[in-house]
Amino acid sequence: MNFPATRLRRLRRTEAMRSLVRETHLRPGMLICPLFLCPGEGVRREISSMPGVFNLSIDEAVKEAEACAALGIGGLLLFGLPPEKDEQGTGAWADDGIVQTALRTFKQNRRLDSLLQIADVCLCEYTSHGHCGVVARDGDHFHIENDSSVALLAKTAVSLARAGADIVAPSDMMDGRIGAMREALEANGLAETPIMSYASKFASAFYGPFREAADSAPQFGDRRSYQMDGANRREAMREIDLDVAEGADMLLMKPAMPYLDIVRDARERFDLPLGAYQVSGEYSMLHAAFQRGWLEPERAMLESLLGIRRAGADFIVTYFAKDAAKVLG
Ligand code: PBG
Repeated sequence: MNFPATRLRRLRRTEAMRSLVRETHLRPGMLICPLFLCPGEGVRREISSMPGVFNLSIDEAVKEAEACAALGIGGLLLFGLPPEKDEQGTGAWADDGIVQTALRTFKQNRRLDSLLQIADVCLCEYTSHGHCGVVARDGDHFHIENDSSVALLAKTAVSLARAGADIVAPSDMMDGRIGAMREALEANGLAETPIMSYASKFASAFYGPFREAADSAPQFGDRRSYQMDGANRREAMREIDLDVAEGADMLLMKPAMPYLDIVRDARERFDLPLGAYQVSGEYSMLHAAFQRGWLEPERAMLESLLGIRRAGADFIVTYFAKDAAKVLG
C-alpha cells in the first residue's frame, strides 16, 4: 500500500497510459448547442459579450445547424427573438412563431436528422416586460402570477411540440408547470414528446449575457420570486422531486460551474438522464480571459466541460459546443 510499492505516477507516464485509465470522457454527441433565432434574412449578428455566438435568421440558422450536425453534436436548444413582444408573450405559442417556423424548416432538412431539436419553453423573450410569466400589477407593486402563467406555458409547449420539437425544455420555474405540460401534451396527441425540465434553476448573475442575446432582460424587478435562491441545496432536491413526480423525462441543472455540488447531488439521488447548462456568463468570463491571453482557450474550455461531466452530467448545454466538437473530433 505504501510508497514505494504504490506510485500513482506510474499510470500518468504517457498519453496512452493516461488514456487507458481515464475515468470521464467528452464526446460531441453529449453536447447541445443553443441557437438564438431572429426575424429577417441573412442576419448574423454577433452578441457583443459572447464571441462566436450570434442572433441568426432562419436561413443562417440552417447553415449553423448543418455545421453542428456535421460535427456530431447531439442537439440544438432553440430560443426565439420574436418580431414583436406583448404583455402576455403571445409570440411564444403562435403557430407561425419564430421557433415554430424554424422547427418546421429544420424538420424538412435530412442533413439535420442526427440533431435533436430541443425547444426552450419560456415567455421572457416574448413578453414586453421581460418576465417569464404573467405580471399582475397593484399600484407600485407587482408579482408574477403562477397559475395563469402555467396555462400559457403549457400552450407554448404544445405549440412547439406540434411544430416538430423533439424535446420541450421549460425554463420558467413556475410551480406545477411540468404536470400541466405533460397533461396538455397527452391531451393533444403529443404523448411521445419528452420534457426536459430545467428542474433546479437558480436566480443567477451568470445569465447576464444571455439577456442581451435573447433580448429578455426584465424591464423592472428581477427573477428572484420564481428562480431559486443560490444558497439552497436541499430545496433544489425538492424542486427536482416535484418535477419527477409531475412527469419530467430528463433534468437540466443550471447554471453549471458555480453549482457543481447540486449537479452531483442530483446525480446521486435521481436516475433520470441529467444535463447541465454552462450558461452565458460562464462562457463570457472564459472568453474575457482568453482575449487577454490569461487562459489557454482549448485547455480551459475542455477542462470546464470535463468538470461538469465529472460532477455527474450526462450531457451539457454549452456555447462551446462547436469549438469543443472540433477538438474532440
Ligand atoms: C429563459 C432562460 C434564461 C436562460 C435560459 N433560459 C434566462 C433567464 O432565466 O433569465 C439563461 C441561459 C444563459 O444564460 O445562457 N428563462
